[in-house]
Amino acid sequence: MPITDSTVIQLKLAQIEGRESAPAGCLTAMRLYHDLLLSMCDRLEFIADTLPVPVNITECQVVTQDLLPSMTASHQFEEDRFFMDARLVLKGGCALDDTIARLCEEHREDQFFAEEICEEIRGLILGGGQKNAEAMGYMLRGFFGQMRRHIAFERDFLYIPMTEKLIRL
Ligand SMILES: [Fe+2]
Repeated sequence: MPITDSTVIQLKLAQIEGRESAPAGCLTAMRLYHDLLLSMCDRLEFIADTLPVPVNITECQVVTQDLLPSMTASHQFEEDRFFMDARLVLKGGCALDDTIARLCEEHREDQFFAEEICEEIRGLILGGGQKNAEAMGYMLRGFFGQMRRHIAFERDFLYIPMTEKLIRL
């Protein structure tokens, strides 16, 4: 199997696992998870750009294998650790609690959407690349566009303010 960006990121995450208890380690892990999800978005965009014929069937298969585990790992880390640190570092009160609740809801929606995407890509592979290509492209772009906006929000309103606060300590 080729060493992809996401494989490298997963290896880095494995290396820091257990050492993210310090706030700086938590932020490093969060950046790597975001990079992992953004690399998944780039790979989905590549597939969308090649439609109606997916030129690299192997890549399509690897994406369907990687997408849900990558999202589950990242969302679990965010909800179990990163958001807790965000509350402590940013002291945002009710407004931050509401924002985090919305982000968690978006995680659930993205997970369901990702399951549909994987199902469609598998169907595309089995159908020889001709079936519902236009709808598939629209669906893929909707998914990775939504995911990129979600990550940009988390970076701009949580990750960067947390980093700036910790630098000033
Ligand atoms: Fe998130």
